[in-house]
Amino acid sequence: MTLSSVRSICCIGAGYVGGPTMAVIADRCPDLHVTVVDLNEQRIAAWNDSDLSKLPVYEPGLDAVVERARGRNLSFSTAVDEAIAAADMVFISVNTPTKTKGLGAGQASDLRWVEACARQVAKVATAHTIVVEKSTLPVRTAQAIKEILASAQGEGSDGRTFSVLSNPEFLAEGTAISDLEGPDRVLIGGEDAAAIDALAAVYAHWVPQEKILRTNLWSSELSKLTANAFLAQRISSINSIAAFCEATGADVREVARAIGTDSRIGPKFLQAGPGFGGSCFQKDILNLVYLCRHFGLPEVADYWESVVTLNTWQQHRISRLVVQKLFGTVTGKRLAVLGFAFKADTNDTREAPAIRICRDLLEEGAQLAIHDPKVETDQIARDLHLEASAVPDPNAGPSRAALSGEGTWWKTDDVASTVSGADAVLILTEWKQYRQLDWQALAPLLRQPAWIFDARSVVDPAAVATAGLQLWRVGDGGDPITR
Ligand code: UDX
Ligand code: ADP
Repeated sequence: MTLSSVRSICCIGAGYVGGPTMAVIADRCPDLHVTVVDLNEQRIAAWNDSDLSKLPVYEPGLDAVVERARGRNLSFSTAVDEAIAAADMVFISVNTPTKTKGLGAGQASDLRWVEACARQVAKVATAHTIVVEKSTLPVRTAQAIKEILASAQGEGSDGRTFSVLSNPEFLAEGTAISDLEGPDRVLIGGEDAAAIDALAAVYAHWVPQEKILRTNLWSSELSKLTANAFLAQRISSINSIAAFCEATGADVREVARAIGTDSRIGPKFLQAGPGFGGSCFQKDILNLVYLCRHFGLPEVADYWESVVTLNTWQQHRISRLVVQKLFGTVTGKRLAVLGFAFKADTNDTREAPAIRICRDLLEEGAQLAIHDPKVETDQIARDLHLEASAVPDPNAGPSRAALSGEGTWWKTDDVASTVSGADAVLILTEWKQYRQLDWQALAPLLRQPAWIFDARSVVDPAAVATAGLQLWRVGDGGDPITR
């Protein structure tokens, strides 16, 4: 295969990674035809919707990229076989969640969708096909893919051949488009130099050569797990220090600034919060833990597992302290939850800290008014394993559920109605609009004495104090003498 021979790309999986990544490739490579396929008809219909606000993934800037490329050299389809057969490069960008049962349950990645894709490619590909692992995968998954593809080569295969590459995606949600357009690096792992060159030539349309790193397959697979493990470890580290700050009178923002100016540590990823969420960090670390145990390295496994343990602890710590500050009970009390997505600028709730915190509070019998600018009501219901109840009438007395101590929740459309009648406001996602709230105007809507629990450090403490509200901020020890 020669450099110029990649003409047609197929991406299997139109999710948070496949959709935006292929949109940017199509946008930057008008000479290539890119087809994104998915079994999920609804998802594909949403990618094809003429109303760009209906795209299934919310990412700043994504609508403009899709608008430029869709219908030109970017298409979204459910015709999986057709697209694979027409492509000379197939990206596998499907879900790889943590296994929920069987061998490795709770830690190992569930590779059934990846395996199904490899079998599908083996069955319907034509001529030489480069298969690119885009999903984050356990180290040595490429071996399994190679073996499945090898079974389709040889006699009676009409000359079909395959090369397997690993090309992990490092985009972060909320900044996916800028991460894709200006990546820190593009990593390509493989054994076939021509295939590596062919993929590098795709990225070279907009990424400088020196940022395109080439490694062997296993280093590439492991680098993705390692990058996520290191990033998550920084968050657990700063969250552990946040708890210690609260106990000692230090302020985690000051500590983060002080250590972040050390050029060896650097200032990024030192924001204390309610714990990390998202589809990658926990899944990838648990996968690393599983692999380390499998390869006889229990101490290494324990080391990385503690990053996840600390994260879970931080989420429960926040719900516990809400209960404690509200006189030891939230049963029947109305609490306002601002933000449900796992971070700002995304509609994704996978592993969002809000899920665990809200579930804890529902268990305690709280009545939660939940606001998020992008997350749909149905998604919250699935995450909480509880249907939404009707929005309560502000003039009516406590509901039957509230009186019986049953936890309930409902979704709200604006911040004022969310906080109305609440004993406390919990800020769980750092949406920009929550930084600009007028606490003077909101305070009279709350039931006094009221608390603000700012798990994202977005409020101005002076403005909250002037409004007569009590404030807990993550990692803020205040003055331990006067506390
Ligand atoms: C992450 C990696 O950053 C990305 O490279 C990889 O491809 C996928 O996983 P993502 O999960 O989309 O990306 O978002 P990220 O910005 O890394 O945030 C993950 C979680 O950590 C969020 O819940 C975020 O709120 C939290 N976080 C991040 C903090 O609590 N503090 C920080 O300083 C940074
Ligand atoms: P990610 O965040 O990694 O992009 P998502 O769960 O958002 O993960 O997206 C993965 C997508 O892959 C889903 O839309 C799912 O329907 C799709 N998918 C999984 N297996 C297959 C398959 N064999 N063929 C086509 N699409 C698939």
